[in-house]
Amino acid sequence: MSIVSYQLIGNIGVIQLNNPPVNALSKALRQGVQHAIKTAQSDSSQALVLICEGRTFIAGADISEFGQPPLEPSLRDMLNSIETSSKPVVAAIHGTALGGGFETALACHYRCALASAKIGLPEVKLGLLPGAGGTQRVPRLTGVEAALNLITSGRPIAAARAEALGLIDRLVEGDLLEAALTYARQLVSEAAPLRRVRNIEIDAASIPAGLFENYRKKLARRARGQIAPMHIVDCVEAAVNLPMGQGLKLERERFMQCMQSTQSCAMRHLFFAERQAARVDGIEKNTPTRPIGSVGIIGGGTMGGGIAMNFANAGIPVTLLEINQQALERGLTLVEKNYAITVSKGKLSAAQKEQCLSLIQGTTDYADLAETDLVIEAVFEDLGIKKQVFKKLDEVCKAGAILATNTSYQDVNLIAAATQRPADVIGLHFFSPANVMRLMEVVRADKTSDEVIATTMKMAKTIKKVAVLSRVCYGFIGNRMLRHYAREAQLCLIEGSSPQQIDTVMQDWGMAMGPLAVGDLAGLDISYNARKALSVEQKGDPRTYCIPDALVEMGRLGQKSGAGYYNYDPQTRARSNDEAVMQLVRDKAAEHGIERREIPDEEIVNRLIFALINEGAKLLEEGIAQRASDIDVVYASGYGFPVARGGPMHYANTVGLEKIYSTLCRYYEQTDKDYWRPAALLEELATTGKQF
Ligand code: 3HC
Ligand code: NAI
Repeated sequence: MSIVSYQLIGNIGVIQLNNPPVNALSKALRQGVQHAIKTAQSDSSQALVLICEGRTFIAGADISEFGQPPLEPSLRDMLNSIETSSKPVVAAIHGTALGGGFETALACHYRCALASAKIGLPEVKLGLLPGAGGTQRVPRLTGVEAALNLITSGRPIAAARAEALGLIDRLVEGDLLEAALTYARQLVSEAAPLRRVRNIEIDAASIPAGLFENYRKKLARRARGQIAPMHIVDCVEAAVNLPMGQGLKLERERFMQCMQSTQSCAMRHLFFAERQAARVDGIEKNTPTRPIGSVGIIGGGTMGGGIAMNFANAGIPVTLLEINQQALERGLTLVEKNYAITVSKGKLSAAQKEQCLSLIQGTTDYADLAETDLVIEAVFEDLGIKKQVFKKLDEVCKAGAILATNTSYQDVNLIAAATQRPADVIGLHFFSPANVMRLMEVVRADKTSDEVIATTMKMAKTIKKVAVLSRVCYGFIGNRMLRHYAREAQLCLIEGSSPQQIDTVMQDWGMAMGPLAVGDLAGLDISYNARKALSVEQKGDPRTYCIPDALVEMGRLGQKSGAGYYNYDPQTRARSNDEAVMQLVRDKAAEHGIERREIPDEEIVNRLIFALINEGAKLLEEGIAQRASDIDVVYASGYGFPVARGGPMHYANTVGLEKIYSTLCRYYEQTDKDYWRPAALLEELATTGKQF
């Protein structure tokens, strides 16, 4: 069966694309469309319909062709033949018309779509800009501001919104092909003109003064350090000020610049890494999975409530179990508050909120969990309590129920051993706030069955999480690495830096927040209390925790107490430096015999990030993580690591493993600390010229 077929249905020529899974614009598809358009020019058709088979209209250029020599015909050639067709072409859209796919629709003369369809230009999420006319055609239809919003956010919009913006001409119902044929016939009977978007002119006088400059300023804050959004603004500005041909030329140049950038390379890496992460080595694709039609959650605190929301949002009923009625009410109220915030942000309607809330039932009785398919425990981080909970679950839950723990650090094998069915026990480590953060670490214990792993990996997609598989170790993938990053932040601080310097340097480098500001946000008492449970040996080098310990003991718990590493304005939460903190830092340095020195910004970045990389390499060596790209997904989707750097392991490849290795060797030599000993895997790759 060919990728593109062409047939005449009465007086309408139908070009049908069939390039599973998402009708990406591969070379063969481009060729086929061009050929069909050419054929149609000389047959008896009076109008053409461009429609796709399968789950979606074209979802974009074929990303796997990027970075390789261009293959003829180009997408621009294909769009040109559509736009210059002597017969009107109607795009018939279902599923997701994204990127080059939507640009193809924009080159057509008319566009109809099912109401369930979505359109968008997500290129910016790949570090790119629409490279096939999107930046020129969208503003001609929607006006400049709506175009900037659509293209710089990369977020798809629903067909109805697209129609309101003028991007879609007609919403249709029922069978798409029938509806598109009807529309095309109507256009023929009305002798509708060949509407070419390129011929629309934008009235420059209608653009408010300073619009582009203000937009650039806004993006400088929102998309820190990313180059593609700025190029997009330049291109949209060109749509106003330059003729179409020149605008397209500029767009092309900027697209190529983005394509060749390390940023886009990193973001494309993450696109495929996320999809790769869903695959579990050694577990067949056809491994049977269990249906998850109902979920129980134990503990309705910070995490339990957020986790419950994920399932309710996906239409799956949840039973939330708390220790007593009072705690239950507190938990349910918190959930309701969180939904109210989502509604106030316009991300959910009041009716949807009620619908979700109606799916979450509270209980204090384990018997109510007897029939649930999956139970997730999110009680206090205490092995004893968790074991008790699992023992109880083992007694009440039906055979085949999956029993999961959201523990951050406890040994999932020990928790599984508290039951008679360790094969059904797994770790599902969500991140806070659990209703927002995309990452979920799936922690397979020694006895977890393939079926349970396959089921939870699949379930992640249902609740819109990115799942990454980890084996059991202290902190799993993300938190185990984070300890090393946090350690270096503390050491830089005591050796000569300031909270302000460390946070600014790391944020400028691209982290969503600096490490000390994150501590203030999370609450310094959390790790303080966690440390209390550890032996002196487990706590490690006192220089790595003496400052936060002292801050907590001074009553500086972070944002919640108005002060931590910084002072916080009670109204605005704006932070300011506090000399008292610097005095504490100097005192602690003196106490530990450290002569403080000026620490260069580059040293801070390298110490924090290389510490992550070295630990990541050890995780690979030990088989805790399946692959380097999984670690990248963990950091980019759970720890605010800059997507434009592709995750720590991809970043290591870009820097060059030899440089990382030699720097680690130097740190090891200077400090004689075992944690700086380069991972054997890193040494091997670096010395043989390989990459992660
Ligand atoms: N090129 C190549 N492969 C693609 C692709 C693309 N544009 N889009 C999806 N795929 C592949 C995925 O890698 C995956 O492959 P796998 O099964 O081997 O892992 C398969 O198609 C299915 O994808 P998903 O698992 O993501 O399926 P979903 O149903 O969850 O999502 C989707 C479908 C919404 C279309 C999602 O895949 C998506 O967002 N794709 C990317 C869309 C995009 O970014 N388009 C713009 C491309 S850049 C461009 O067009 C440049 C132009 O301006 C010149
Ligand atoms: P929390 O203290 O906010 O909530 C725990 C809840 O469990 C409380 O409401 C408590 O009443 C309830 N509870 C305690 N014992 C119970 C029992 N025997 N039966 C039923 N309910 C019981 O704690 P939080 O932050 O929600 O953490 C829960 C778990 O999630 C911990 O294991 C933690 O390590 C993990 N986690 C926490 C993250 C965070 O950022 N807070 C992130 C990821 C995981």
